[in-house]
Amino acid sequence: GRRALTDALGRRISYLRISVTDRCDLRCRYCMAERMTFLPKDQVLTLEEIALLADLFIARGVRRIRLTGGEPLVRRDIVDLVHRIGRHVGKGLDEVTLTTNGTRLAQHAQALADAGVRRINVSMDSRDPDRFAHVTRNGDIRLVFEGLEAAQAAGLAVKINMVALKGINEDEILPMLHWCDAQGFDLTLIETMPLGETGEDRTDHYLPLTQVADAIGARHALTPIAHRTGGPARYHAVEGLGARLGLITPLTRNFCADCNRMRMTCEGKIFMCLGHEDHVDLKSAFREGGTAAVEPLIDRALRLKPAAHDFRIGAGAPAAVRRHMSVTGG
Ligand code: GTP
Ligand code: 5AD
Ligand code: SF4
Repeated sequence: GRRALTDALGRRISYLRISVTDRCDLRCRYCMAERMTFLPKDQVLTLEEIALLADLFIARGVRRIRLTGGEPLVRRDIVDLVHRIGRHVGKGLDEVTLTTNGTRLAQHAQALADAGVRRINVSMDSRDPDRFAHVTRNGDIRLVFEGLEAAQAAGLAVKINMVALKGINEDEILPMLHWCDAQGFDLTLIETMPLGETGEDRTDHYLPLTQVADAIGARHALTPIAHRTGGPARYHAVEGLGARLGLITPLTRNFCADCNRMRMTCEGKIFMCLGHEDHVDLKSAFREGGTAAVEPLIDRALRLKPAAHDFRIGAGAPAAVRRHMSVTGG
């Protein structure tokens, strides 16, 4: 077979995140600025190009692919791409999944399940309509609830992603856990990361998950469990509940030493770390020379993978990188 994807520190890259669009129908405060400039369509890879590159990465040993955005479901015909990638599941690929804001899930859940998706991560920072509208700068929570119902009806396992935000949703974390439990969902809490300027100071809302875990632990003992989903979340059993609680702690405890992932943007740029600007651009090489021209660039990208991000939040610290989360897809 072909050479596996291993970086200079011996980390094996088996998880590829593909951002299929930088666009989104929401404007979450910690993710985007109120006014964003999106890429012109001619700079974005076609779905066919993405599919061919995905084939190549699978041939090089990628076992999990997660489609992200922006919001992946705003891209037209996205289900066709999922279906195309889904053909590899069980034949080299362990899973194809998505991270979505859920607003268009009602239209697509069944088709995604039919295309081979088994589980999805849905971002929801509040269940309260007004707060949700505040965090997302005008999103309609009802669409997300409808999307979640459709996902359940289609048999998709759901994990809710909640960015923990001081003064915004801190008091909703425990209720969210109870609600997820009642729905049969898992819940993952995330520390806000300093990517891109959003017009707000992230320090104001940063909530260390060490503190949150202590608060939850006072009500339900948390026990670390071996369950892994391929990503950085560390999971816990929650006393008295069936829902698992995942904690993603880039600030209080990074997980870079075990990092297994790389990211491709919708323009065909490969980023080896969420927290660094280094990247290689596959698009023109691919358009001119096909997969053969891309292989050496992938090897170059592997050498660019840093040991760790150096995210810091506080005292006027600038964003670690200029691009927004919506460009690299989380
Ligand atoms: P699974 O483990 O496959 O369920 O996915 P995930 O939790 O890795 O993916 P998801 O898209 O749901 O991302 C949840 C949060 O984790 C987002 O805020 C991501 O930005 C963050 N995240 C995912 N991978 C990394 C990583 O490698 N480094 C850092 N710092 N954050 C990450
Ligand atoms: N820090 C942490 N998480 C973020 N997300 C978006 N921007 C940020 C950020 N700056 C989350 C979204 C979604 C996931 C893909 O990333 O809420 O759940
Ligand atoms: Fe859109 Fe997700 Fe960013 Fe919110 S966090 S603006 S839903 S890409």
